[in-house]
Amino acid sequence: MARIFSGIQPTGIATLGNYLGAIRNWVALQQGEDECIFCLVDLHALTVWQEPAALREQTRQMAALLLACGIAPERSILFHQSAVSAHARLAWIFNCVARMGWLKRMTQFKDKAGKNQEEVSTGLFVYPNLMAADIHAYHATRVPVGDDQLQHLELANDIAEKFNHDFGVAFFPRIEPLVLKESARVMSLRDGTKKMSKSDPSDQSRINLTDTADVIAQKIRKAKTDPAPLPEHVHDLEGRPEARNLVGIYAAITGKTPHEVLRHFAGSGFGPFKAQLAEALIAHIEPIGQRAREYLADPTGLDHILRDGARRAEAIASPIVAEAERLVGLLPGV
Ligand code: TYM
Repeated sequence: MARIFSGIQPTGIATLGNYLGAIRNWVALQQGEDECIFCLVDLHALTVWQEPAALREQTRQMAALLLACGIAPERSILFHQSAVSAHARLAWIFNCVARMGWLKRMTQFKDKAGKNQEEVSTGLFVYPNLMAADIHAYHATRVPVGDDQLQHLELANDIAEKFNHDFGVAFFPRIEPLVLKESARVMSLRDGTKKMSKSDPSDQSRINLTDTADVIAQKIRKAKTDPAPLPEHVHDLEGRPEARNLVGIYAAITGKTPHEVLRHFAGSGFGPFKAQLAEALIAHIEPIGQRAREYLADPTGLDHILRDGARRAEAIASPIVAEAERLVGLLPGV
């Protein structure tokens, strides 16, 4: 049995990108043999400014959405990162293992900090070390993510390797990213060259998992396209990022290949295609929002699920991190 770990930031509402790129894979994986641990990474959220009350609310909301998507507490461990101190303890050790040069190469840091590198928090810079700690604190070896996280996972492997080398041990295992090829990168509905993101200032750029049927239909109707009809072959979508993205979304949500989608719609304009895309999305997404509202109506129940998850997570991570602390020469705590 292997152990699976993944996380999501409770900043804003989960999008269709989060769902197709990661969450639906989590739900599928929890049916298998491996032990699954899914984490609301609230410490990562703090790397950029969060209103305290909003962060609390969004953490519960993200928990409700994950449950509504099908994460089952009896099959998976679901908890919030800050509740298990092992993450921060191991992250500190990794801050002292990772090299400045490694972190400076992280494209997500460069994108997020932009020209503002002197002004962003130091947390944003060491963000990938905390992410490595999240995974290695559980000796997890399989990590289901969208492809924007792959560079961070390579870094997590580099950190593990350097730790093992420096301390002459084979303590942290290598991790393997699990990426769903078809939907590894869902793009913005307004710009097919940009990732769909919960932090994009334009709500029109994304489908939120809480959007109602009307909102989903309207966003798809208004989604950017180009004037040409849908082509016959997938390679003819090259250079047409918006068309490619919508075909990819339709394929992922209906379980078809892009090739099958094009066989059906080739030669058609975007009108009829968008109508069917909206219908498929509504059938899939709207019930998730409804179920999430039911979970949110019972915050005590939600907190109970998260606390129970945190207890189970702590029981796995604490001894592993205690051993890492011993290996680097720290005296045991009380
Ligand atoms: P976050 O919160 O940005 O995203 C959560 C998951 O959703 C995937 N994703 C996408 N997939 C396809 N298309 C998109 N447009 C899209 N947008 C987001 C992400 O790849 C991710 O899998 N650093 C992570 C959270 C994290 C983590 C971890 C993940 C912290 N610790 C340990 C794995 C293991 C993040 O910010 O994800």
